[in-house]
Amino acid sequence: MSGATRVKTLRLSSPEETHALGVRLGGLLRPGDFVGLIGDLGAGKTHLVRGVAEGAEVPRSEVASPTFAIVYPYSGRIPLYHADLYRLTNYDDLYSTGFLDMVEAGDGASLVEWLDRIPETAPREHLRVILRHAGGDVRELTAEAFGSRSAELLDAWLK
Ligand SMILES: Nc1ncnc2c1ncn2[C@@H]1O[C@H](COP(=O)(O)OP(=O)(O)OP(=O)(O)O)[C@@H](O)[C@H]1O
Ligand SMILES: [Mg+2]
Repeated sequence: MSGATRVKTLRLSSPEETHALGVRLGGLLRPGDFVGLIGDLGAGKTHLVRGVAEGAEVPRSEVASPTFAIVYPYSGRIPLYHADLYRLTNYDDLYSTGFLDMVEAGDGASLVEWLDRIPETAPREHLRVILRHAGGDVRELTAEAFGSRSAELLDAWLK
């Protein structure tokens, strides 16, 4: 349907569970990995990314509270580029942010909230994480791997 190489779905019943899953992903990311996050307002995208940052050993003080910046670079075990496309409407808007250069440089892993705003931001090889509200604190997470590295990452993450 979506053309993904591999798809997995699971239920997250609390913010803590989502955080823990993020930590686990943060421990697995390598430079060049690209993770797109898709989901409604409050679905838990940023919450998951905070877990990823912790798992990638980013000092807690570096992880931004929401601001108007589009890209937040963090330095952990590897560089992490956390971007939020919510306020952007087209690919050209992204040029001026410096984000595309960071992805191109390939020295870090990228985490992109609201990837569905500008889907062409994603390289061919990427992991897509979709979060859906499923009542109260429950979220349904679907991870779709596009390409072989992402499938390997997905398997290691959600075994
Ligand atoms: N199972 C859960 N997983 C993640 N967050 C949860 C869960 N249950 C409740 N929450 C709460 O939902 C909110 C998620 O907010 P978060 O900022 O992560 O959403 P978001 O998807 O990034 O939204 P936005 O598009 O506005 O940036 C947090 O307040 C968090 O505590
Ligand atoms: Mg967010």
